[in-house]
Amino acid sequence: MATASRTRVLIAVLLGALFLAGGCTDMGVSPPASAAGPDSTAGGGGVSFANNVLPIFDRYGCYGCHGGTNGLVVGTVADLLRGGIHGPAIVPGKADSSLIMKKTSPTPPFGDRMPLGGPYLPDSVRAVIGAWINQGAKDN
Ligand code: HEC
Repeated sequence: MATASRTRVLIAVLLGALFLAGGCTDMGVSPPASAAGPDSTAGGGGVSFANNVLPIFDRYGCYGCHGGTNGLVVGTVADLLRGGIHGPAIVPGKADSSLIMKKTSPTPPFGDRMPLGGPYLPDSVRAVIGAWINQGAKDN
């Protein structure tokens, strides 16, 4: 009896491991797919803050630290306009002047490149944020 139930537990654990492995495989496939969403809008039409920019902050951990780190919160457009201790994180219409672009570049003007500790934003992803800023940083 004890052996049989132990076998059942073992089978359950193995099935669980298989299930988890399947889940991981799915997760490994989905990031490129979701990354294609924001990237595909960078060139053409309007970039949406909610649909294209916020998911980047989520995916790259900005949210996790910037619920106030250095005074910066990244949850809303208003938060970004208010910025952190070095001033506004975005200048609508001017991606090149926007702190968020400078801080995610390989040569930040102060401190470390964001996200702190990486992995860093590929140019294609930074371009999405840049396009959104240059389109007026709308709360869309
Ligand atoms: C692991 C924590 C961490 C993560 C993740 C992180 N940051 Fe930061 N961030 C910091 C710290 C600490 C500072 C202050 C030190 C510095 O400037 O390097 C900072 C500073 C900044 C500043 C300057 C704020 C100011 O006014 O001084 C900006 C802008 C910024 N981060 C943007 C981002 C963005 C955008 C992301 C996501 C792509 C990100 N950070 C991810 C920790 C983090």
